[in-house]
Amino acid sequence: MKLFVSEGNPHCLKVKAALEVTGVRCSVEYFNHEEKVVPFLNRPAFPALLLPNGQYLFSSNTICRYLFEVNGQECSDVCNQWLEWEATVLQPALLQAPQKPVQGKPSGVSQVLPGLLNVMDQSLSKGGMPYLSGEFLSVADVVLWAALHPVLSDSSLALGEHKCLKAWFDRIAVMRSSQSGFEKALQGNGPQAMKSHMQRQPTPPSTQGNPAESEESERVVSEEEMEATALKWSKGLDACAPETEKQHPILPQEGKRNILLTSALPYVNNVPHLGNIIGCVLSADVFSRYGRLRGWNLLFVCGTDEYGTATENKAREEGLTPQQICDKYHAVHASIYKWFQIDFDFFGRTTTEKQTEIAQNIFWRLHKNGFLVEDTVEQLRCEKCQRFLADRFVEGTCPHCSYPEARGDQCDKCGRLINAVELREPQCKVCRQTPEIRSSKHLFLDLPKLETQLDQWLDKSTSTGDWTSNAKQITRSWLRDGLKPRCITRDLLWGTPVPHPDFKDKVFYVWFDAPIGYLSITANYTSEWEKWWKNPQQVELYNFMAKDNVPFHSVVFPCSLLGAQDNYTLVNHLVATEYLNYEDTKFSKSRGVGVFGDMAKDTGIPSDVWRFYLLFVRPEGQDSAFSWADMALKNNSELLNNLGNFINRAGMFVTKFFEGRVPVMELQQEDKKFLAVVGWELQQYIQLMDKVKIRDALKHILNISRHGNQYIQVNEPWKKIKGGDSERQRAGTVTGVSVNISCLLSVMLFPYMPAVSQTIRNQLNMPHSCINSMLRGTGTFVCVLSAGHRIGTVSPLFQKLEPDQIEALKKRFGGQQPEDEPSNKKRPSTAQPADAAPAVGPEVKTEVGVDAEKAKELTKAVTEQGEKVRALKAQKAEKGVITAEVSKLLDLKKQLAVAEGKNPEPSSQKGKKK
Ligand code: MF3
Ligand code: ZN
Repeated sequence: MKLFVSEGNPHCLKVKAALEVTGVRCSVEYFNHEEKVVPFLNRPAFPALLLPNGQYLFSSNTICRYLFEVNGQECSDVCNQWLEWEATVLQPALLQAPQKPVQGKPSGVSQVLPGLLNVMDQSLSKGGMPYLSGEFLSVADVVLWAALHPVLSDSSLALGEHKCLKAWFDRIAVMRSSQSGFEKALQGNGPQAMKSHMQRQPTPPSTQGNPAESEESERVVSEEEMEATALKWSKGLDACAPETEKQHPILPQEGKRNILLTSALPYVNNVPHLGNIIGCVLSADVFSRYGRLRGWNLLFVCGTDEYGTATENKAREEGLTPQQICDKYHAVHASIYKWFQIDFDFFGRTTTEKQTEIAQNIFWRLHKNGFLVEDTVEQLRCEKCQRFLADRFVEGTCPHCSYPEARGDQCDKCGRLINAVELREPQCKVCRQTPEIRSSKHLFLDLPKLETQLDQWLDKSTSTGDWTSNAKQITRSWLRDGLKPRCITRDLLWGTPVPHPDFKDKVFYVWFDAPIGYLSITANYTSEWEKWWKNPQQVELYNFMAKDNVPFHSVVFPCSLLGAQDNYTLVNHLVATEYLNYEDTKFSKSRGVGVFGDMAKDTGIPSDVWRFYLLFVRPEGQDSAFSWADMALKNNSELLNNLGNFINRAGMFVTKFFEGRVPVMELQQEDKKFLAVVGWELQQYIQLMDKVKIRDALKHILNISRHGNQYIQVNEPWKKIKGGDSERQRAGTVTGVSVNISCLLSVMLFPYMPAVSQTIRNQLNMPHSCINSMLRGTGTFVCVLSAGHRIGTVSPLFQKLEPDQIEALKKRFGGQQPEDEPSNKKRPSTAQPADAAPAVGPEVKTEVGVDAEKAKELTKAVTEQGEKVRALKAQKAEKGVITAEVSKLLDLKKQLAVAEGKNPEPSSQKGKKK
């Protein structure tokens, strides 16, 4: 027997411990966590146990149970029950362990875990036995001990009040054999190793609770489902909706679902970082692209948020006027979003005449309707700088905790909110002079007076629309604390002027003004803007934003609109993300940490791959983190080995075995079953997307290609094509079905990776109209490429991201993970063919043979790329840039080797360790 493990993987820790405890004879081999050892799985699976008869076990609990059974210890019912509990309850909870980057807040694990520990503690205490299933140590004890060890050895989670559990834990800890087993399994890295493993795991989906061991368990497909899917599928695309070009201006239409979609307007004075991008514009773009494919009549607007103190300050810093700053950075934003392929219908700005006109109109209506009140405010004014100081521009000693560097709005030490005039020894942050207290008259939006109306509207909107749970929660807590009047004027220059004669020198507060930008930007797009904004009967409004924007969109702005009483369209669906962190820290412009929008394109990583990864880790439901190592992993495993591999193989089979024409398909049970499974994944995707669960939906695309790879693997068309008539027919069916699944994938991918989607459609020569029809209704999953259809030229869709390339990028953008990925050092890669031949799996490589035309193309590409690299080196370009280009070159060389039918991993390409 042979046991395959990867380092730092807690499931491996279990089986190693079980091995030690049972003393079963078995050799152990260490692998990199990305490698694949179980030949029929298309993903890495560790641990895996190779049985003497050549079969594999690859679920940790099953392996443990097997080892105990070999040793003559059968697993009792109680014991099985514990194993189930571990897999379905405890593991999902533990998987949330690394999701705790928010400082000061308890991590997910420490919230859930005590309850779970209680369950164990009580069971032990009730049973009065030393072990979970009785007198003797069983597989359940080993599995649970190993599962908990990494967390419980973290001092922050002591076992204080769980006495029986503690005794049990210690009892097992002192058993010498197990002790050494655990230690060996951890390789001295302990919780850290486990953490880095955990960071590579997807977070458990909130709806189903069993990610740990369920991946391989197949969904049962009924006969009826199979037949129905197959029938519908074979009918093909008769009901294809014609491709309709967008006709500007897009306006609401009778009888359609009319969707107005906004992304929070990014502050103009900053270059947005990845967290900003995923938080609003990218998420909104995915939904807008999806909505169009769904056939909704949709308008997507956004623009830069340009007024306010921050802009004035930036202007001072850069020695420009505020207007110049806005012009400069508006262009920067626009070009970043263009690179990320954010397909706004209109990208405007808030410093326009329309903004003044509409904001002042809303203001007068609020005034006329009696929703504005006057009050005198004490403010700090710096005489030297000749201006009133916004709260953030004053520093002083906190009146509560005496922290000397408190800001005028909040103390970073005690976290309390501060009124700037209460600060002791206040200082102007710009010139360090002591500001004076001055009183000045301001206007306030009377939120208490609007509260009842707001409540009524909120009840309806949150119960009928799709509000993310954080959005509802944040709104609820605002209301619970009671609404107070909010000041809507400021003593500033750079803003929309307040038209009231008594407040001549004042401008609107940005948070009163900015959301009105949605309206004015639309007005700059079309003079018929009111058809969108004063039409709640016909229009559904989606607002996308990060969670810090929620109260302004759910409370303050709706109150402005309600108070203005002009039949405004109010938000129906408020979609708020959590925060995205950078590696183990936060994005920080000043510390130079993190990737900012304008840098992404210099990494050499394609825009689509950036989009994919950001959407894959979209902070949906909880904070998440961008990690370079993880990005490389997801690129190499999900895009290259899974998705790209499937699509490329399907296309290559058509090219090589059927002269580029889709073969005749005669569906058998197995194919029907496969179609039903794919159909089900498509439905899941649609259901999730409709609810704006963008991250969850993406997983279903990847599931389809995973099933697809399995389908190809099991059916081996490259062998069958060499067989007799019926075998060749089989090869044809499998190829035809696969290439049609690629079509479906190209459509499902379109919202996420528009360029890749287009490339697939080009390669398969897909009829234009399919993109517009497949996501209608509950999903129109049909055969679109019928027998005889000629496809185009197929080539790999993705490139491998090499470890040294990633290392270089990580260095370049700051943020370290010191002991990250210990497994990479351990074992030189065993030239796994799947790794070596990106996008074209091993089967294609050996079976397809030489592709002269492609080889010619690639030779040219290799030469060109080689020249590019030499030029960069000569110019002494940045290392990261060179590395990226070198890696492209190596990839092209590999592809060339594949096309020439050679071993793609010649020795010259190795040994490039730094
Ligand atoms: N500029 C704000 C931010 O980036 C968002 C403004 S959204 C709007 O956080 F509603 F005010 F426009
Ligand atoms: Zn000053």
